[in-house]
Amino acid sequence: MDKVIIGGSSSYVLAIKIARELNATLLGTDIKKFPDGEKYVRIEGDLEGVDAAVVQSMYLNPDEYLMEYFLMVEALKESGAKKVTGVIPYFAYARQDERFKPGEAISLKTVSKIIETVGTDQLFTVDMHLHRVDDMSKIFNIPAENLTAIPDIAHYIGEHLPLEKPLIIGPDEEAEQWARTAAEHLETDYDVLEKKRISSTEVEITTRELDVKNRNVVIIDDIISTGGTIAKTIEALKKKGAKKIVAACTHPILVDNALKKIYNAGAYNVIGTTSIPSPISVVEIAGTLANALK
Ligand code: R5P
Repeated sequence: MDKVIIGGSSSYVLAIKIARELNATLLGTDIKKFPDGEKYVRIEGDLEGVDAAVVQSMYLNPDEYLMEYFLMVEALKESGAKKVTGVIPYFAYARQDERFKPGEAISLKTVSKIIETVGTDQLFTVDMHLHRVDDMSKIFNIPAENLTAIPDIAHYIGEHLPLEKPLIIGPDEEAEQWARTAAEHLETDYDVLEKKRISSTEVEITTRELDVKNRNVVIIDDIISTGGTIAKTIEALKKKGAKKIVAACTHPILVDNALKKIYNAGAYNVIGTTSIPSPISVVEIAGTLANALK
């Protein structure tokens, strides 16, 4: 079966790189909007019998990118594609995985249901925000794998940033998995802090009994959105005497002047992966995604 790669408008550069890594054909697309705002999608080439991977990260305009994804998968399946794999590096709506208040939608459930219904046969995502769900099979009825970009991030830090034996910090309990993995790769130690979320843009960070005096620190998290979590973490670590602080994340969403906030708090450097194109997307994840697709 011929392997073909299709990039949605959120991830066409990543799709090109994945296709190159796999020596696979990259199919052209015609994606545009009608004057009333509706999306139009056409995938070029012979789609009969292909094994297709659709690459589409769901950042900043998640609704629009989701709709595009649905139309791309539907078009592939209706045109005879044998298999369609969704490659959704940043999976939006994962944070609303529960009904926290009566009447709330469990967005993750609805989004995953539609992704399956349109014809996705298999799914890859990266460092998905799975804080309360520990198993992808509880979310999806199709084979779905949550890959991690943390080894790629750790490798980049080891190669490019002059930090001798940095302490790796996760801003909250959920970040422990990522802090541990990064620490293993960088052969150093790690710890986690305590985070209390006050609102969607405000958090409180407590460092507990942490000895960071005169140490370089790398903060690792899955997402940098408003930058509030990282900025507060840096402030707390600086108060305790930390030296250079690097903030690293898989998904640099970066809204509300996040980078300005983080650098003003005293960051030495801020890095993220190519899961989302941004000014700090220096860690390439095309290789990790291509390996999964092999
Ligand atoms: C939350 O638990 C996540 O792991 C991130 O810490 C959070 O999404 C970051 O958001 P923000 O940058 O807005 O603080």
